[in-house]
Amino acid sequence: MKKKILALIMVLAFAFAMTSCGSESNGKLVMVTNATFPPYEYVDGDDCAGIDIDLAQAIADELGMELEVQDIDFNSIIPAIESGKADMALAGMTKTPERENNVNFSETYATAVQSIIVKEDSSIKGPDDLKGVKIGVQEATTGHIYCEDDYGADNVIAYTSGANAIEALKTGKVDAVVIDNLPAKKFVEANEGLKILDTDYVEEEYAIAIAKDNDELLKEVNSVIKKMKKDGSLQEIIDKYIKAE
Ligand code: ARG
Repeated sequence: MKKKILALIMVLAFAFAMTSCGSESNGKLVMVTNATFPPYEYVDGDDCAGIDIDLAQAIADELGMELEVQDIDFNSIIPAIESGKADMALAGMTKTPERENNVNFSETYATAVQSIIVKEDSSIKGPDDLKGVKIGVQEATTGHIYCEDDYGADNVIAYTSGANAIEALKTGKVDAVVIDNLPAKKFVEANEGLKILDTDYVEEEYAIAIAKDNDELLKEVNSVIKKMKKDGSLQEIIDKYIKAE
């Protein structure tokens, strides 16, 4: 009997050692985002929610890790990845050659276009009409960079969030807002008297940013994205937020 109990204790001790070792090596996966960008990321009560949060959770689950989401300024995201403060960034972030100097990008997981939002009675009909008018953008986004390049920095006013740029449009401080198409749709739905122009401005692709020296995570993330594209679970996440309107 004594022997049996001893054996049982040893088995339990071994099992315990295994699990604690397991959780130590798995650990936490820290994601940074800027939750001002529905439906990709927005604040819902005390939490962040949206397509990017669900995608990050699916990746963490697949890797057997615990996801931690940190909501920071958009222009702090790349530095957070470079310094190793966070493991990955999902922020409806467009893969660009300039950003690729500082971080690596995963497989792309969504495509987007820069949309132009104006007041319903605006005489602005397309990108050509943006010459010489005041354009609102979110700071450090591709919309900000493209508009400065195409229309001159003097005509572009950068806000800390898309919502603030929309507020500026409503109060007449800017004549148009340039922002990614899905957030544009959400903002126009939530605010009366605004419309999205039919003509798109620039096409782009979203990807996950990962530190240059973290090839292992990049490989793992890419294989999860590939799998989720194949089995339809990525599309399911996107549909959940787009059809829920
Ligand atoms: N796609 C644009 C970019 O990469 C805008 C992203 C803004 N994202 C956000 N979470 N606020 O610059």
